[in-house]
Formats: sequence, C-alpha cells, structure tokens
Amino acid sequence: MPSGSSPATVIPNDLESYWLPFTPNRAFKAAPRLIARAKDMHYYTPDGRAVLDGTAGLWCTNAGHNRDPIVAAIRAQAAELDYAPAFQFAHPKAFELASRVAALAPKDLDHVFFCNSGSEAVDTALKIALAYHNIRGEGARTRLIGRERGYHGVGFGGISVGGIVANRKFFGALLAGVDHLPATYNRAEQAFSKGEPDWGAHLADDLERIVALHDASTIAAVIVEPMAGSTGVLPPPKGYLERLRAICDKHGLLLIFDEVITGFGRLGYPFAAERYGVTPDMITFAKGITSGTVPMGGVIVRKPIYDAFMRGPEHVVELFHGYTYSAHPLACAAGLATLDLYREEQLFDRSKKLEPTWADAAMGLKGLPNVLDIRTIGLTAAVDLASRPDAVGRRAYDAMVHAFNNENLVVRVTGETIALTPPLIVSESQIGEIFEKVAKTIKAVA
Ligand SMILES: Cc1ncc(COP(=O)(O)O)c(C=O)c1O
Repeated sequence: MPSGSSPATVIPNDLESYWLPFTPNRAFKAAPRLIARAKDMHYYTPDGRAVLDGTAGLWCTNAGHNRDPIVAAIRAQAAELDYAPAFQFAHPKAFELASRVAALAPKDLDHVFFCNSGSEAVDTALKIALAYHNIRGEGARTRLIGRERGYHGVGFGGISVGGIVANRKFFGALLAGVDHLPATYNRAEQAFSKGEPDWGAHLADDLERIVALHDASTIAAVIVEPMAGSTGVLPPPKGYLERLRAICDKHGLLLIFDEVITGFGRLGYPFAAERYGVTPDMITFAKGITSGTVPMGGVIVRKPIYDAFMRGPEHVVELFHGYTYSAHPLACAAGLATLDLYREEQLFDRSKKLEPTWADAAMGLKGLPNVLDIRTIGLTAAVDLASRPDAVGRRAYDAMVHAFNNENLVVRVTGETIALTPPLIVSESQIGEIFEKVAKTIKAVA
C-alpha cells in the first residue's frame, strides 16, 4: 500500500502524549513499532511492510484480522443502533449473543453477564462468588484463592488473585483474604513437554492445605486459568484440574476458570473446560468473543448460581453490578458475526487438527542457542531463553524487536519467554514460516 494514501499511514509527529500500556515507553518512542492496518494473518506498517501475526494480536484475533463478515456486521450495527442503556433496558442482540455463548459452554453454564474486558470479567466473577455465598447465608466465605504465576488482568481483584510479582508489588495491600496455590510449572520435571505435562497433578492437593489453614467456611472461590497464558504458556499437568474440581466440591468452594485466553478455540475447543472434561462453576471470557474487534468480556455462570440471586421483590435489582457498556450493541454484533465465522470455517476444529503440526514445528527449535524449554498446547507455544548475564529479560525483548524489524513477525514476550499464538486461520506453511523466523531470531540474539 502506498505510503500517505490514508490517515492510517500517516506517521504521527508527536509520540509524547500517549502513555503506552505494559510497554517501556522511552525505548518504544526512541524506535517505535507502528502498525497501520491488517488483513487476515498480516499487519502492515505505515510504509507498507507486511508483518506476520504470530500472536493473534494479544491472543485475541482468533478469526484473523479485518474479516469481511465481522467488519460488515460492525458497520451495519453502528448505523442501526449505536447504544441502548444497559441498565433497565436491553437490545435484542444482547440476548441472542448470551444464548449463543451459553450454547458453547458445558453443561448448565447457561447464564451470561457481559462486560468489556478480561479484567472486568474477572472482577465480575469474583464479586458474583462473594455475593452468591452472602445471599445464601454463608457470608463468612470471603476468601479468594488464586495461583502463583496466574494472570487475571489488572483490576484490584485480578491482581490480588493473580500471581505475577511485578503486577502486584507496586499497588499496596491489594484485596484482603487472598491466598495462592503453587504454580504448576517445574522445568526439571516438565521440560520440552508437548501438551499437558505428566508431572504435577499432585500440586492441586495444596488446596487441601489452604483449606486446612483457613477453614472451608471462610473460602468463597478458587480461580485459575486452565492454561496459564500470559505468564509463559503453562499447560495444566494431566489430572490437575480434575483434582482441583474434586477438592472444591468436597468443601463447597466455587471453581472459576479464567478462559480469557483459552476460550474460543485456542485449545481446540470452545472452552478449555471441554478439552479437560472439567466443569467449573463460572467461566470468564473476553478477547476471542469478538476476535479482538470490539472490546467485550463476560462471565458464564451455572444455573444454580443465577437462580440463587432470583429472589426477593421483583422490582429490586438482584446483583448490584454492571457497566455502562455491558453488552454494547457494537460488541454484540461483532460477537455474533465472529461466532458465525468460527462455526462456518470450523476454526475450533482446525485449531485441534493443527495442534500436532504446530507442536512438532515448535519443538524443532530445541537445540538452538539459549533455548531452555519449549512448551506447546493447542495453537500456542512458548520458548524460554537463557538470560543475558547482565540483564534479565533483555534477550527476549531483543528477540521481539528483532522479529518485528528484521523478520517481519510479531511475537509476544513475557520475562525471558517468547510466546506464540497465531490466529486460528494460520496455514501449515505459515506455521513453518513462523518457526523459521523465530529460529532466525533466536540465532540473532544469541
Ligand atoms: C487469563 C486472563 N485473564 C484476564 C486477562 C485480562 O484481560 P484484559 O486485558 O482484556 O483486561 C487476560 C489478558 O491477557 C488473561 O490472559
């Protein structure tokens, strides 16, 4: 695309005002990585360079970029109904999307509360858990259990149950009454596992220790990502989630799966709950619901939880919670078009079928300089690199910059880990291309 032909290709002349999230601002502004447009598997820089998307945006553009049916649905919706009040009123597509999402979820997870992001979804789920116990007369159940290395967004609830130190240590005392399970990763036992590692199911038993310490009567819920994505792709050990479920059942604790990344096909199923045959009490989702086009998140709730709230005078609000943009019309239209596309192109199944090819290609990086571990699950992989002696995180950061500037590939890095998680439309030859580019990148930062 010729430079200067549309507003998206104009390079800004002042980079100062914008404070970028989760980004080293000074380094970025000294050498910006700008993306002007996108289509399917590629981004295009303002000067027209095509860059392969190895990370589905931020794990969200599962259907690929700027897909025509989704774009058309958003356009039509903007012309028809821009907004309707989310409290005391509603618009038809909110109900339609809720039914469609519920139909994808397992068993009696059949009610959907909408919000605008994964962080809001997590805070919503935690609040529902607390209120649920409260209205049932078990108001002492206020403790929330997360997991070390968990990522649940950036709200105060999410960082409290989350287990990433840098996301927590600057922000005070966080929520009171939170405890954490141990992380499920152990390199000595699990290195270079494809899929769920054999070692580690017993780590779920730590929940019994936590229950013994605090007593079940004080604990409301346990929240985990079925596969911890943001902290570096940590698949659950075989049998781990089943054990968590059993312990939660034994003690009356609600189990929340944070499926903000694992939802909508990332692991080959609508939700990871189905892959593992483990049914949580709530599922949080975001990202893939609209394939990243319009912000949206939500919580899918089991029927008995919803029913517990449906009492008292009928004119009184049952749950004092919600967002101005809950079930926003543009997000609902985008969500419906996205779910249609997933179904028509059978993208969840495609992800499942490509998993072995993807895993083999990823493991092909074994033996390259500084590669300490490779993990794969669904259409996701992570490569841990050895740190440079002088600067932790520097090698992976350099890899991300090199991949974008020199290999025309977007990768995501977290700590010293390169994470790869492409749109589900990725072709077999593009899988080869991604790992070839990553191999060159790893050599370049050796
Ligand atoms: C598991 C999980 N939960 C919550 C979030 C937060 O989502 P958002 O950035 O939309 O607030 C993320 C984001 O990556 C996530 O991976």
